[in-house]
Amino acid sequence: IHDSSAAAAAALAQEVKELITSRAAKKKTAVLGLATGSTPVSFYRELIRLHREEGLSFKNVVTFNLDEYYGLTPEHPESYHRFMCDQLFDHIDIPKENIHLPSGLVPSDQVFEHCRAYEEMIDAAGGVDFQILGIGRTGHIGFNEPGSSRESLTRRITLDRITRQDAAADFRGEENVPRFAITMGVSTILRAKKIVLMAWGENKAGVVTKAVEGPVTDAVSASFLQEHAEARFFIDKGAARELT
Ligand code: F6R
Repeated sequence: IHDSSAAAAAALAQEVKELITSRAAKKKTAVLGLATGSTPVSFYRELIRLHREEGLSFKNVVTFNLDEYYGLTPEHPESYHRFMCDQLFDHIDIPKENIHLPSGLVPSDQVFEHCRAYEEMIDAAGGVDFQILGIGRTGHIGFNEPGSSRESLTRRITLDRITRQDAAADFRGEENVPRFAITMGVSTILRAKKIVLMAWGENKAGVVTKAVEGPVTDAVSASFLQEHAEARFFIDKGAARELT
């Protein structure tokens, strides 16, 4: 529990810097699992600062994003492709070929194959070393809405009404928010060697408490993190408010 989201994001960025530099010293890659949304913005800003001011290179970094809205082109202003370029990739020296996101444009009859290939790419890269997560009000990690099983893999999912309401302002109306997304599954996420979930502010306090102190249940996907030996929450005082 940190005094502020800025302090938590800076501490997390420092850990990621150490992972990247220790791997680079051994001429190895660091594989990061990345999230979008408002929560990781301060963390990405800090990574950009470390690149610009402290010479942190991302040449040996490979990334896999958690999810993408289904039906959006990479150029769409609300696509997660666009978000990642704007918030991080365009400001660091990561090689383009090291960046992976699910495609929002894959035709329906090829979704299964696309998702299978995404899982295989993660494994071929050696698995995710460090997975970054946010949490939705439904308890989702990635877009694993309530009902997503512990065994779920990368797949197309129907977004929860609450998730679409939360995205409505960005899309100028709930009716413009895509109904589906492609997301890594719970099982995909739990294969990561280390996991950090970030959450800021009082409006996340209820769901953070359910995830950390409640039963492990598919009604709250983030509760499955209780079963991972190297999963931690980086939260601010607001998000910690209802913890006992
Ligand atoms: C985004 C993602 C989601 C978000 C969650 C919180 O890639 O996978 O799980 O992390 O919806 O979103 P914000 O940070 O906007 O509150």
